[in-house]
Amino acid sequence: MKKPLFIAVEGLDGSGKGTQIKMLASRLEAEGTKVYLTSEPTQFTTGGLIRDALSGLTKRTPAELAGLFLSDRIAHCQSPGVGIKCMLESGVTVITDRYYYSSFAYQGMDTDLDWVMNANLNCPDIIKPDVCIFLDVPSDVCDSRIESGRASREIYEKRETIERTRQKYFEVFSKLPDHNIKIVNAVGDPEEIAERVYEAINNVQ
Ligand code: TYD
Repeated sequence: MKKPLFIAVEGLDGSGKGTQIKMLASRLEAEGTKVYLTSEPTQFTTGGLIRDALSGLTKRTPAELAGLFLSDRIAHCQSPGVGIKCMLESGVTVITDRYYYSSFAYQGMDTDLDWVMNANLNCPDIIKPDVCIFLDVPSDVCDSRIESGRASREIYEKRETIERTRQKYFEVFSKLPDHNIKIVNAVGDPEEIAERVYEAINNVQ
């Protein structure tokens, strides 16, 4: 049996992560791989607090938000029965829609990036992914997708923030030489992008 993989999918809001994750999961399942799809913020209590902050309902400082994401991620990894650790141990491949790279890019824009990185990377309860797929789409494309798909924008979906976030992702990736980061061109036909994503994870075992 192949080792189960822990795959983190990252990208700007409106980069098509949802579609690509579903396509990747179907392909892996068709090959007989058991797959667990999950996302951050989670469905746990911390995830609810985070969603209220993202919508603007409650005000949080960037460091406070980074702390909430950290706590949410610990629960995401360690939760009995449904956590990432438990899934991987039972032989299931895990695909998460966002992981700590999002904290580095988003909270790292407004608070101390090294602190956010150290807190996550040195936390014994947080599991390192086998691979991170970054779906790269120009920020103006994301912006128009958000515009046509949402009634209101969350705090990080403001037009001027999107390009800043993309730049921050690249800065973060350059600080992580020991991480397996695959930058995938996510412009084009969904089937074509799915092929690139599949190729990117195919060599990881
Ligand atoms: P959401 O609308 O739930 O999902 P998505 O845009 O990925 O489809 O938004 C999640 C938001 O949370 C997104 O704007 C990025 C942000 N975020 C952070 O700021 N830090 C983090 O650590 C994570 C996981 C997400």
